[in-house]
Amino acid sequence: MSEPVITCKDLVCGYGENAVILEDVNLEIHRGEILALLGGSGCGKSTLLKTMVGLLPPISGEIRLLGHDVYSLSSTERRQVLKRTGMLFQYGALFGSMTNMDNIALPLRQHTNLPEPVIQEAVRQRLGLVGIKGLEHRLPADVSGGQRKRVALARASILDPEIVFCDEPSAGLDPIVAAGLDQTLRRFQRLFGMSMIIVTHELESIKILADRVVMLADGVVQAIGTVDELSESPIEAVYNFFHRIPTDYAEEGETVLESLEVARPT
Ligand SMILES: Nc1ncnc2c1ncn2[C@@H]1O[C@H](COP(=O)(O)OP(=O)(O)OP(=O)(O)O)[C@@H](O)[C@H]1O
Ligand SMILES: [Mg+2]
Repeated sequence: MSEPVITCKDLVCGYGENAVILEDVNLEIHRGEILALLGGSGCGKSTLLKTMVGLLPPISGEIRLLGHDVYSLSSTERRQVLKRTGMLFQYGALFGSMTNMDNIALPLRQHTNLPEPVIQEAVRQRLGLVGIKGLEHRLPADVSGGQRKRVALARASILDPEIVFCDEPSAGLDPIVAAGLDQTLRRFQRLFGMSMIIVTHELESIKILADRVVMLADGVVQAIGTVDELSESPIEAVYNFFHRIPTDYAEEGETVLESLEVARPT
């Protein structure tokens, strides 16, 4: 089997020694695989993603991205490695004052010497591939939420990366639009053979997309496996997610709400 595209070894990540979010992360992501990262709000999914993409140095342990320890590379070498990856941020992160064309063209203008007409043609083609042909001259604010995610996907994939990281790609979309986006992500992966790391809470998305699932809870990886394997897991956090059992946090909230209802004069 080829070398994993990402390896985490005894990884501890977070925001300094006093703000450890995840410990003991041991994980390999294979070439061409779609891996879903699951876990409750605040469990550290985005933190792990930021650590993987070179934005947040690990507190300890090792992370190798495409065979490199990105945190020990010079900034030029790091750029070379990161250029082989694409990121779809949780909150879109498109530049609001730039047209969709300019947003998507940005990585090509930054990392290649392609002539402008070639860049513009590549952007138009990519817009067609993500299913929003003809929207190149609009601003991100002037398209729908689902279309904006597709613009972000076009930008994240324009350099034909070997790995695409997606932080909650379908958050805030209605189920039909979300399912359409999932199909596009799957088609992209088949077409280009890239690996994808996708953070999502949507069970339906996970079933369509994920080859394997990593479940995070209580500061550690609770389980790694296929959807079928995890849906039979006896581990409480995993079982609760796959059987849609509310978490303690939700129960706590319910209790507060109930006490408020009792206290409210009728
Ligand atoms: N820059 C930061 N500095 C300090 N703590 C942070 C920072 N960013 C996030 N955190 C904390 O790290 C923890 C994990 O946050 P993270 O964003 O990784 O969660 P998440 O699993 O992605 O949640 P969600 O599903 O809500 O997006 C949270 O307690 C959060 O408050
Ligand atoms: Mg997050």
